[in-house]
Amino acid sequence: MDSAVPRSLLPDTAVIDGRGRLSVGGVDLLDVASEHGTPLFVYDETHMRARCREALAAFGHGVAYASKAFLCLAMARLVHEEGLYLDVATGGELHVAVAAGVPPDRLVVHGNNKSDDELVDAISIGVHRIVIDSFDELDRVERLVESTGAQPPRVLVRVTPGVEAHTHEYVMTGQVDSKFGFGLGSGDAAAAVERARRSAQLDLVGLHAHIGSQIFLTHSFEKAVGVLADFARPLALPELCLGGGLGVPYVAGEDAPSITEWGDTLRRACEAAGLTAKVTAEPGRAIAATAGLTLYRVGTIKEIRGVRTYVSVDGGMSDNPRPVLYGSGYEAFLPRATRAQRPRVVTVVGKHCESGDVVVRDARVPDDIAVGDVLCTPVTGAYGYSMASNYNKVPRPAVVFVGEGQARVVVRREVNDDLVRLDE
Ligand code: LLP
Repeated sequence: MDSAVPRSLLPDTAVIDGRGRLSVGGVDLLDVASEHGTPLFVYDETHMRARCREALAAFGHGVAYASKAFLCLAMARLVHEEGLYLDVATGGELHVAVAAGVPPDRLVVHGNNKSDDELVDAISIGVHRIVIDSFDELDRVERLVESTGAQPPRVLVRVTPGVEAHTHEYVMTGQVDSKFGFGLGSGDAAAAVERARRSAQLDLVGLHAHIGSQIFLTHSFEKAVGVLADFARPLALPELCLGGGLGVPYVAGEDAPSITEWGDTLRRACEAAGLTAKVTAEPGRAIAATAGLTLYRVGTIKEIRGVRTYVSVDGGMSDNPRPVLYGSGYEAFLPRATRAQRPRVVTVVGKHCESGDVVVRDARVPDDIAVGDVLCTPVTGAYGYSMASNYNKVPRPAVVFVGEGQARVVVRREVNDDLVRLDE
């Protein structure tokens, strides 16, 4: 397994030239690293647009992009231009979407603990759907609609089907023991639907279920539909949103269904279960993950003979906390030698003050990796920048979109002054 990085982990427009140098969107990655600095998030705009189109074709009108995966003004605009709705899970995500010019009636509002302010915002600007997550929220929405005299919002009731998806415990959401939604088995889901139906302040249009994230097995989704079906069928509500959760390959040897296959599976499972509701979904990772990659600069190589070699890069857990949080694996390669064999096993670490600050454990890299090299980790487009922090007062990287031979900065690199911007 010392082979070159698999092509399937690179963005759609990735091209490797005769010298082995990698370009994406017609832009040479070493040039973009020199011009914009490192660490740098690079997104293939064509790739993301293609995945949005695939989602629209798979689910039809109403499919939303889960903006928590990656959101900035340019991303909100891209998704909206491609005809997708945006799922926003906080007042902050809602603010960014609206600031980008996305019309409120293209927004789906989530959250297990929406504040009064967040709900008033959503209700007063007239969002597309609010996904109701708890009995307290039912009380709150009714009270706020009453006191503001707003139109009853169209809502979905979020159901936890009690299905344990095969994924990391922290990103599992459909199981009985969950902070999200109303349990089916306990009767809470039935009670919530009944209440929402009778309420004059709510317009109940459907159900919502999300079983987790980074799920490879279509079987888990089929199981969720099977469990939901007996509950949903007699209710005959017009909409059923099955959330996000489609996994993507991060490392060599992994394989995941496409958005098209996922959509087919969900639709077929719903039909087989006799559900007539319009089926929709909210993919996040499946749209953004493989479109994005991170460029780092190697600063130090420390070889401890017979033990391990540490390759330190200029970012780390502040731009990608997923390895630390979930033990997630990544590949690493050198965009100057993309096709090179990678026989050397090293640990790629960041610059933060803790030993756990690992970017890639047991990374395979070319033998001649050297200080000054640009090192790339692919498949960092989802839940990387969106979960980035300023730990150790490290400024967050810039984000560039590439396409048609151009790189444009969509989020500028933080500078040291940004680190004291909020301080009084
Ligand atoms: N809809 C709801 C209600 C969700 O909670 C989520 C993700 C999605 C859609 C989108 O799921 P996706 O298609 O991206 O799997 N930070 C974790 C992932 C957390 C996912 C949270 N909810 C990670 O880095 O793996």
